Amino acid sequence: MSAAEKLSICCIGAGYVGGPTMAMIAKQCPDIRVTVVDINQARIDAWNSDKLPIYEPGLQEVVEEARGRNLFFSTNVAESIRDAQMIFISVNTPTKTYGIGAGRAANLEFVERCARMIAEHSDSGHKIIVEKSTLPVRTAEAVKRILASSARPGVSFDVLSNPEFLAEGTAVEDLLAPDRVLIGGESRDAVQTLVDVYGRWVPRAQILTTNLWSSELSKLTANAFLAQRVSSINAISALCEATEADVDEVASAIGTDSRIGPKFLKASVGFGGSCFQKDILNLVYLCEHFGLPEVAAYWEQVVQMNDYQKQRFTRRIVKTMFNTVSNKRIAVWGFAFKKDTNDTRESAAIYVCRDLLEERAQLTIYDPKVGLEQIKSELAYVMQNDPSRYGGDFEKLIDENVTVADSALAAAEGAHGVALLTEWDEFKELDYKKVYDAMQKPAFLFDGRNLLQHSNLTELGFEVHAIGKLC
Ligand code: UDX
Ligand code: ADP
Repeated sequence: MSAAEKLSICCIGAGYVGGPTMAMIAKQCPDIRVTVVDINQARIDAWNSDKLPIYEPGLQEVVEEARGRNLFFSTNVAESIRDAQMIFISVNTPTKTYGIGAGRAANLEFVERCARMIAEHSDSGHKIIVEKSTLPVRTAEAVKRILASSARPGVSFDVLSNPEFLAEGTAVEDLLAPDRVLIGGESRDAVQTLVDVYGRWVPRAQILTTNLWSSELSKLTANAFLAQRVSSINAISALCEATEADVDEVASAIGTDSRIGPKFLKASVGFGGSCFQKDILNLVYLCEHFGLPEVAAYWEQVVQMNDYQKQRFTRRIVKTMFNTVSNKRIAVWGFAFKKDTNDTRESAAIYVCRDLLEERAQLTIYDPKVGLEQIKSELAYVMQNDPSRYGGDFEKLIDENVTVADSALAAAEGAHGVALLTEWDEFKELDYKKVYDAMQKPAFLFDGRNLLQHSNLTELGFEVHAIGKLC
């Protein structure tokens, strides 16, 4: 038996990253005991039920194959730490909202708490600690110091960085066949132990090993580059609208250059998700911290362009609808930050809806995986900072003007306009004649994802506005 086969793994954090990643390790390595722990009882209960806390195509099957065999979900953090030889830290690292670095730096309090819990509950032997959460470069230094300063006698630790590159909505396929697995670390043995785990199903050539700091920084850099591509094509979309060029044609023309490549060039209402903005702001903060203001300003522009794109979309809706949307009903199709996920963190839809509410529009929202409570809580979260913008009582504004519908067609019933904000496949299959008939006229349709066949819609009578093109 190899060292990897005797492993018992604990993962702290049963979120969008920890849950699917550990489920895949457990599926691929039936002899490794994998326990995912979280302080959130409801989340753990959901992982142990038929209705998982996150929606990912194919995830249910992976979880069901391994759960109860060698995959366990628990709130008993102390016991799981004690029993494991390898502990993944996969907790959230949101942007700090207070104090030094507020609005930019990553909030590392959850990571620090994990390091302290690991030191407290590790009572014997050697453990490998794996940073799975995306962290500022050199965080491993702090984790190592906390572990070393609080470790019990006879207990030792190695720290590895193993950032996760899965994208939501395609988590299972990304985990099954990753472009690469990245492992950074100082101890050759510890790195090899983790290589042996992934080596069960990932070809060895795709498992990259680097020093700790390169691994930590590569994750931030990958997300910054990806987000930069989206902001770059979105910047060009504004120019397309001014010049009658078509952004999808431009994207496909430049994407055929093998140095540029075709992926991640889809113009949109703006990128969202829990990673891109947070990680770029984190990178910006690091650059400032290390005395590199020009580098910081360069990357910050990616986020500013994204904010501009979201605002530009709402302004266009208002301008097109005769400069007022007050008391007009707008159907919002999609609230998740991309298709095939129920995740709404930093979704462009939050900001578009917020700005439409500020204009006193009435919103009827339909998303196949997102419910009213989640929508209201996201809106309240972004509106609470500046209640004066919404006439003081933003909660009342939300309560009175946000409803949900149980289908895209139902949302469009009696609406003056439709704003398509998430590229769910089902929006491509609708009976648009019915949608048109159900709407007020002129029937405005704002395609924030360039998802639909615009010429067909125009023929049906819609007035269509898309990103970076004339319709
Ligand atoms: C991203 C990275 O892709 C992943 O490697 C990392 O581990 C986590 O962050 P994720 O945020 O889940 O993954 O989704 P992604 O597919 O990258 O999309 C991010 C946002 O960009 C979405 O809002 C998406 O709609 C938008 N996007 C993406 C575009 O607007 N246009 C594109 O061409 C691609
Ligand atoms: P990600 O998208 O990075 O996976 P999530 O927010 O979905 O982030 O998940 C992070 C999880 O980590 C949450 O379920 C949260 O309850 C959990 N968590 C945070 N701090 C701790 C901790 N100290 N111990 C156990 N779980 C924690």
